[in-house]
Amino acid sequence: MITKHTGITILALAGLILGGSSCEKGHNDTGLVYAPQMYESVGYEPYRQIRPNPINPEGLNMRLPAKGTVSRPNYRTTFGEGAFETTDMMMYNIPADSIGIAERVLTNPIPDSEKALAEGQILYTRYCSHCHGTTGKGDGPVAKQYKGVPNYSTDAYKTMNDGHIFHVITHGKGRMWPHGSQITPDDRWKIVQYVHKLQQG
Ligand code: HEC
Repeated sequence: MITKHTGITILALAGLILGGSSCEKGHNDTGLVYAPQMYESVGYEPYRQIRPNPINPEGLNMRLPAKGTVSRPNYRTTFGEGAFETTDMMMYNIPADSIGIAERVLTNPIPDSEKALAEGQILYTRYCSHCHGTTGKGDGPVAKQYKGVPNYSTDAYKTMNDGHIFHVITHGKGRMWPHGSQITPDDRWKIVQYVHKLQQG
């Protein structure tokens, strides 16, 4: 049973708690929030974090890269030997909507060779031929789904230069999807070399 006395004590305590807590809140406090998980992600987000992460060191969602990780700008790739050695093919910063720049400034850093062509053919078979066809005529088994895949050896396609093809592989074009995340720049250049061969018909 609550006596008058205890009732007053409870009220006073509640008042203290409420009053006290309201004083602690700053001007930026929004007070009561409705369904906060609608805008405070329940999943671990790398760039926005509400509470300490219980698993990772220092409570951060984002972890430091593993030891020995090399950032892309510092990753040196090489192809070829001696005078034909080419390095630094990892960076590609030309934006998707600037194919004209790619056509003007890019040339294949991988010198023409049987080896590059042979590797290009393997890569082309793996990544392109199901749409573009083994001979580049646009007759791969998946081409029907795309209602027309160009034939490399006709009209404007037979004159596509290094930069154009490299850019299309990287960013895609029209109905073709980008492949930049799946194929390394070195491999893209080998494919470019092979596409040139197919352009000859
Ligand atoms: C899933 C099917 C598909 C795959 C895989 C594919 N392409 Fe394409 N490609 C297309 C289609 C469709 C077009 C026509 C795009 C358009 O004009 O809308 C096209 C167009 C092109 C063009 C001409 C772009 C232009 O200037 O009009 C080039 C070059 C090309 N592809 C190269 C490649 C290479 C190299 C690969 C492999 C790395 C590849 N494609 C993989 C479907 C594909």
